[in-house]
Amino acid sequence: MTWYKVGREESLKDGDLAKASAGGHEVLIIRDGDKFYATSHLCTHEEYDLADAFLDDHQLICPNHFATFDPKDGSVISPPEGAGDISPLKTFSLKVENGDIMVEF
Ligand code: FES
Repeated sequence: MTWYKVGREESLKDGDLAKASAGGHEVLIIRDGDKFYATSHLCTHEEYDLADAFLDDHQLICPNHFATFDPKDGSVISPPEGAGDISPLKTFSLKVENGDIMVEF
């Protein structure tokens, strides 16, 4: 496992999402207040790109059919209506060091 720099803390405002790639992986970086999270970037329903998702009340919402995920652990809070169960998002270890956002793969 290796830590990769995927961005700078000041480049994301509260509620911002950004896709980043490092070490052959693509991830979604999420800022919620002072907290940062890293998850897989494709919705587990129909692989919509979650760079276009949004945060509402600490929940990550896919705008395609409104699946809702917890950005802390990737768990599904609610699947799209009528879709049945969907898989959680993958999550990755993230730390901020000297303003650098680092993700471990
Ligand atoms: S693709 Fe995300 S909810 Fe359907």
